[in-house]
Amino acid sequence: MQKLAIQGGKPLRGEVRISGAKNAALPIMCASLLTAETLRLTNLPELHDVGTMRKLLQQMGVVAEAATGEITFKGDKIDNWEAPYDMVKTMRAAILVLGPLVARFGDAKVSLPGGCAIGSRPVDLHIKGLQAMGAEIAIEHGYIHAKAKRLKGARIFFDIVSVTGTENLMMAAALADGVTTLENAAREPEVVDLANCLRAMGAKISGDGTDTVTVTGVDKLHGATHHIMPDRIESGTFLVAAAATGGSITLRETRADILETVLEKLTEAGAKIKVAGDTIHLEMSGRPKAVNVRTAPHPAFPTDMQAQFMALNCIAEGSAMVVETIFENRFMHVQELRRLGAMIDVEGNTSVVKGVDHLEGATVMATDLRASACLVIAGLVAQGETVIDRIYHLDRGYEHIESKLSQLGANIRRMK
Ligand code: UD1
Repeated sequence: MQKLAIQGGKPLRGEVRISGAKNAALPIMCASLLTAETLRLTNLPELHDVGTMRKLLQQMGVVAEAATGEITFKGDKIDNWEAPYDMVKTMRAAILVLGPLVARFGDAKVSLPGGCAIGSRPVDLHIKGLQAMGAEIAIEHGYIHAKAKRLKGARIFFDIVSVTGTENLMMAAALADGVTTLENAAREPEVVDLANCLRAMGAKISGDGTDTVTVTGVDKLHGATHHIMPDRIESGTFLVAAAATGGSITLRETRADILETVLEKLTEAGAKIKVAGDTIHLEMSGRPKAVNVRTAPHPAFPTDMQAQFMALNCIAEGSAMVVETIFENRFMHVQELRRLGAMIDVEGNTSVVKGVDHLEGATVMATDLRASACLVIAGLVAQGETVIDRIYHLDRGYEHIESKLSQLGANIRRMK
């Protein structure tokens, strides 16, 4: 199993390009199931999850041809409507094939994702939404089997805001008969990016980015070219790493408008931030101030940045509360941070972090994607060497992380 070794204590300095967003790329790749024509996606990040999604689509009969940073998908010969357990268990986003398959082919079989490290993460809202649109759904042998002659437009209210739930039903509704309204829909920028791609393919969607999305179904969608939006979580992770190490970095090809709460929190921590066009510059001098964080659906503070801010708070001046309201078990990094000398108390969904003046390198284990990013930040700050085990989680969501960090001056290497 691969590991990362980091010699901490060096401030990050320099410039780095931000990759395309994983959480936009995965649903948008699934949109290729909605048309027989070619969907060309540019700015696709080279990530493990993108590779898994490509393989899954290929197994279904989609022809996916890659060139540097882009893949073209052609779904005119799809003959297999199944997402098997092996794929869904490694990448929950595989559930996103369900809506498009049942909408275009009237049949889909997708494995239930099962539990995962950060909580139970059910898919009941995806299922209820498709049932409201007239799909017949059976849960058999661990699989969701959905059938429908043609989906019908419906009014769907989400009890809980769900990002992939909104995306799955938006794609299903694009080919349904009539109008679908999704209420209490997710407002994440990745939902908007998917809607932009679907519109380019001929879908009739409005209201994306608000909590009510309206989709008027069409008979057919056509091919398109779409440029994947920048990754706001990768952007935020580099900014927090620079702030925690007292560095000065510039992100290129990113967007500040999708990072508002994160930039506000970094400013509160004492960082100086300048935005110009598609660049964000951050400069930090001295020790960061502790900042309270409470995760909630967009536009509030993202759960995918919670662990990274926890790492920052570990070495900050003062104490901070970190409240996780989206996932019930997303504090797996706490125990690992404690191994580096962090002082953190956890009570239910709240952590209280008391800043210490330094962390010390140790061997730690990555438990999920964002927890891994938090350990990398802690390792960059800690005195001495930190070895992070099980970094396959990181490769699911961060493109070339060690070369990007090395480019910023970090002393980091991958051990095979
Ligand atoms: C997406 C993101 C993930 C991010 C999360 C929250 C992708 C590929 N992944 O995950 O990085 O951390 O949003 O911003 O975009 N829920 C139900 N029933 C459902 C669906 C969800 O109860 O049918 C609950 C979940 O357990 C969770 C909450 O709703 O407590 C939000 O989950 P959701 O927004 O669906 O997360 P994902 O879309 O899986």
